[in-house]
Amino acid sequence: MSARFTAPRGTNDFSGPRARRMLAVLDTARRAAERFGYDPVDTPIFEASEVFARSIGEDTDIVSKEMYTFQDRKGRSLTLRPEGTAGVVRALIEGNLVTSGPARLYYWGPMFRYERPQAGRYRQFFQFGVEAFGEAGATADAQTIHLLREIGRGLGLSDLSVVINSVGCPGCRRDYGARLVQTLRPRASDLCPDCLGRLERNPLRILDCKVVRCQEAHVGIPSILDALCAPCRAHHDALLGHLSDLAIPYTQDPRLVRGLDYYTRTAFEVRIPGHEGAQNALGGGGRYDLLVEHLGGRPTPAIGFAIGVERILALLEQVGIDPIPLGAPRVYIASVGVRARARALVLASALRSEGVACTLDGSDGGFGRQLRSAHREGATLALIMGDDEVGRDTVALKNMAAGTQEETPLGTIVEAIQARLAVLGAAARGEGTHA
Ligand code: HAM
Repeated sequence: MSARFTAPRGTNDFSGPRARRMLAVLDTARRAAERFGYDPVDTPIFEASEVFARSIGEDTDIVSKEMYTFQDRKGRSLTLRPEGTAGVVRALIEGNLVTSGPARLYYWGPMFRYERPQAGRYRQFFQFGVEAFGEAGATADAQTIHLLREIGRGLGLSDLSVVINSVGCPGCRRDYGARLVQTLRPRASDLCPDCLGRLERNPLRILDCKVVRCQEAHVGIPSILDALCAPCRAHHDALLGHLSDLAIPYTQDPRLVRGLDYYTRTAFEVRIPGHEGAQNALGGGGRYDLLVEHLGGRPTPAIGFAIGVERILALLEQVGIDPIPLGAPRVYIASVGVRARARALVLASALRSEGVACTLDGSDGGFGRQLRSAHREGATLALIMGDDEVGRDTVALKNMAAGTQEETPLGTIVEAIQARLAVLGAAARGEGTHA
């Protein structure tokens, strides 16, 4: 008896309309990023473990609990990327990608975190991310947040709420951390064991703890927004002004530190309005002005974000939005008989080289069965070719939606199909065909 295999826990297969929707999301995001001047970048899905540990931070849940780390045959410690920023920064430094001007890069691909799987939280998930290097001004922050909203708008999700905060610079954080420790030390018995350690090593991380009794102990803690140094305060105020200039509504949340240690100043998330659950962040990001230097590069300010593609898909499905196009109109060629099959094969090739999507039945079934397949595949037009028709140099052209059929000369069939598809496409877009 053969074993029945299932996908590993916390992973997803994508097929049918979901697979197409996923590509449509990536395509919408990519086109928006290109409008903002971003170029594609692609980095390996595994890196030396140290790249992530140094970037994301040893005290984060990601590094301390969630990394897929393994040794290769030479004993090197490698990790499947839990996020994209660290690898892009490594590539930027290695390839000397910031030379004379800013570098703006976008990427997508699978990320891996050993989390407890639940709706919206997986062990392999897709991100689309952008990273802009070399721009320290608050206009860069505003444009980055604007791009994230534009991606939402392109997908038909116009009312995503933007939550922002500033986590300051190491100076502000030192001062704020001291105030936080002062407030929380008397409540130490209410904190979880992880946070007790964080109290000593990395107090800001406490704000990101998911343990309920820890969160309850946070009541009345000071706000980091009250502890910003003058330059960080000015940067934050300038950003708030630019968001208003761009008419982007936002709320501020001084507890938003996000689950990664590399952020400085701006941190933000885009959430689904009205969904307050833990998995309501569709995307998030922030500034990380010290990371490039920290990984061995020249000091380079940077800012970026990543969106979670599965979460976007789930929301689109929930609100009933399909980010079309679900595939180009397709022509299906049904043929029966040796000569007809041979002509069909050549015709399919001619159509495809003209850019027309076309499928040719390869199962040697009868017309009835082939036309059922044409329906199932959602073909717009079907060509019906038997040896008799081919002998007369004609072919029957069927409009699948209308069910109408007409005899058409084989010699001009490619042009006839293109003309029909143009008319059908215009009708589907709601454009009139009369003058
Ligand atoms: P992040 O907030 O860890 O940031 O992840 C970004 C998005 O990825 C989340 O908002 C969420 O939509 C999605 N996501 C995260 N974990 C999971 C999961 N287990 N299952 C499904 N979706 C998930 C980053 O990764 C940063 N690298 C973003 C960034 C780029 N910051 C600056 N540049």
